[in-house]
Amino acid sequence: MHIGFLNPQGNFDPGDSYWTEHADFGGQLVYVKQVALALGEMGHRVDILTRRIVDADWPPFANDLDVYPDAPNVRIVRVPAGEDDRFLPKEDLWPFLGRDWVPGIIDLYRAEGSFPDAFTGHYGDGGLAAVLLRAEIGIPFTFTAHSLGAQKMDKLEARCSNLTELEDRYHFASRLVGERLAMNHSGVNITSTRQERFEQYGHHAYREAVSVDDDARFAVVPPGVNLAIFGSDARAATEAATRRTVDDRLARDLDPGRLGLPVVVASSRLDPKKNHFTIVEAFATDDALRRTANLVILTGSLDDPLHSDDGISAGELAVLRPLRELIASAGLEGSVAAFALPGQERLAAAYRYLAERRSVFCLTALYEPFGLAPLEAAAAGLPLAVTRNGGPSESLVQDGIEYGVLVDPADVASVAAGLLRALGPEWDDLAARGRQRVLDRYTWDRTAEGYLGAIERAMANAGGSLLPIPAWFGDPGSGDGFDAGDLAAIYLV
Ligand code: F6P
Repeated sequence: MHIGFLNPQGNFDPGDSYWTEHADFGGQLVYVKQVALALGEMGHRVDILTRRIVDADWPPFANDLDVYPDAPNVRIVRVPAGEDDRFLPKEDLWPFLGRDWVPGIIDLYRAEGSFPDAFTGHYGDGGLAAVLLRAEIGIPFTFTAHSLGAQKMDKLEARCSNLTELEDRYHFASRLVGERLAMNHSGVNITSTRQERFEQYGHHAYREAVSVDDDARFAVVPPGVNLAIFGSDARAATEAATRRTVDDRLARDLDPGRLGLPVVVASSRLDPKKNHFTIVEAFATDDALRRTANLVILTGSLDDPLHSDDGISAGELAVLRPLRELIASAGLEGSVAAFALPGQERLAAAYRYLAERRSVFCLTALYEPFGLAPLEAAAAGLPLAVTRNGGPSESLVQDGIEYGVLVDPADVASVAAGLLRALGPEWDDLAARGRQRVLDRYTWDRTAEGYLGAIERAMANAGGSLLPIPAWFGDPGSGDGFDAGDLAAIYLV
């Protein structure tokens, strides 16, 4: 099969340039690249279609074509869109998708003499491009939203009084209209979890676009763990150096008499919703937990965040201040370490090292949409004690079998009890079951198989009655486009 991934935002190159350094170069690009590579390895021809960028500040994206080493079936295809080729953030792409990007894709395949059998649209912008391609040349597609605009508006507390401001900054009207079209015209909508299908697509802003109860229109296809990085048998080039860094920072932060204890590893962004505070509270209130283990908070770039404000953003400081205060008031100095391990390879090496000390991974996010980070830790050999809110409730329990310990992130006693359970006599069983769970269900090969199944269903799905495509998407010169009034009509009901 020949499959086109439509991903206009961000960009792709063999060096994975700018990953995590810009909001448009985050998890979605990892996902698209890994599924594309896995499909390529299965023998399918895959094009990752993205935008050509000729901009001195964004040098790696100027060529029309690019490849990954050792992936002969996968091409990175860059198609121009915009008044010029300068970098544009994803919020500013909407007027140029129908005007430039989609016609450019059609011209490209016409010149090559054949079109993909199917497209898969990613995020609302890739979804809208898929809608326009299907309308023009009849090629079916699947849609993967990654993140839906309505939930982002909820989080930003959108209401009548701030709608114009939000529209000016994020262009939510184009996004919501694009998402509604994408979920309506697609053959199959791909979500990572059942909760994403029912709760996110079930938002009132998507009413009449798709029925979440219609099994024919949805496929739950979870993302995968990169076993070449996080596998318990994998070895990073920085493996030995990372072990030395871990030893060094533990010796810096922990009481010498506690250096032999296992650790509870918390590795996530310093973001209030990740709720590090409850883990520290668990240590502050539970003597048994404090006697059994130390707490290690890993960050991407802050090497001594409990003691130094160097390089810390205002948002991170807002998370750290209460942690520092609680550590001081509860006398937890010497039981908590915090340091930086930049990049996935080092993180994975640290997980493997800490697993040898019978440590445990902990995530107490108030809500975790999917929860790839716990699965990465499980692949490396750490048992899990993680939030029951969101994806982990689907990935870590099935048919009464536990693949990790689920905790209530709003209840300190539940977190402490869950950690003690994972650190206790069940450690070996939980580590083995969690790791096997990832190998069985959460690999990119499995994700690629899920995509193939969904794409085949999309190709067989003739589609029902379709929402009309506003003319502005094809021809932004034809009118004023969308505004806060359109947004209100969709979102405020
Ligand atoms: O890759 C980053 C990502 O996960 C993408 O899905 C998307 O670009 C972004 O985060 C979330 O987008 P938004 O904040 O616009 O919902």
